[in-house]
Amino acid sequence: SQLTRTLSNGAEIPMLGLGVWQVEDGPECERAVAWALERGYRLIDTAQAYRNESSVGRAIRSSGIPREEIFLTTKFYPGSQDPLAEAEKSVERLGTEYVDLYLIHWPQGGPTWAWPGMERASEAGLARGIGVSNFSAAELHEVLKTSQIQPAVNQIQFSPFEYRRALVDACEDAGVVAQAYSPLGTGRHLRDPVVERIASATGRTPAQVLIRWAIQKGLSVVPKSTHRERIDENFNVLDFELDAASVSALDALDTTGQTPDALSRRGKWW
Ligand code: A2P
Repeated sequence: SQLTRTLSNGAEIPMLGLGVWQVEDGPECERAVAWALERGYRLIDTAQAYRNESSVGRAIRSSGIPREEIFLTTKFYPGSQDPLAEAEKSVERLGTEYVDLYLIHWPQGGPTWAWPGMERASEAGLARGIGVSNFSAAELHEVLKTSQIQPAVNQIQFSPFEYRRALVDACEDAGVVAQAYSPLGTGRHLRDPVVERIASATGRTPAQVLIRWAIQKGLSVVPKSTHRERIDENFNVLDFELDAASVSALDALDTTGQTPDALSRRGKWW
């Protein structure tokens, strides 16, 4: 069974998925996605810029898992001009009729110009949900002011060291679910002494502690790995809870200086 949150379009997004940023197209990517699906992951996060959509699609199709049980995300590459045309190409590469979530990868050229094209991709049935990534609170509000369909998700870099409380609060206040990429700091945070201490005290690994922390903050999380044992390890975070002292110690690792503490005040969301 999966832990999920409900998006503004009514869809359920799993709290944990596999990210495939920097995974080479071909067997490496196909294997990682296949292992993840076998282990129980039901959210796969790719992007046009990752150039591995066809491998992701092959792994999904050969898994035998019904398409509707998998939550598939891709992202519009904002160097190109037309989100609708690019969505058509993405679903063709993925070999699927639709994606569950289509995000503007980053706000290149300004936050709003691509949004009408994202809405057309949604209306055309190519994307069940649409959203943004790497948008600041101000950029998100620009989109919200002019949109017919509101962004369902803002995917951001997020970890105890990049603990962007004000941004997550802005998302939550607007009904936008925040999603965390690079929850392990692309691997850099795994050897932090505080993270290591909490890991040994809870009988978990540093990766599990960092992923669990982000889940307890209410974010859907997409750690990346191409190793089977790590893909398994990272999924094994739904059966334990970090206690308040561990959460505070991790919170204190923040280097962003964003002060408001509504995330902590909201308390448990799950
Ligand atoms: P690899 O893909 O070789 O397994 P992030 O999700 O923050 O971007 O971090 C991804 C990085 O962390 C990758 O280099 C990945 O390496 C590594 N990684 C992912 N899971 C684990 C784990 N459980 N233990 C150690 N390293 C991990």
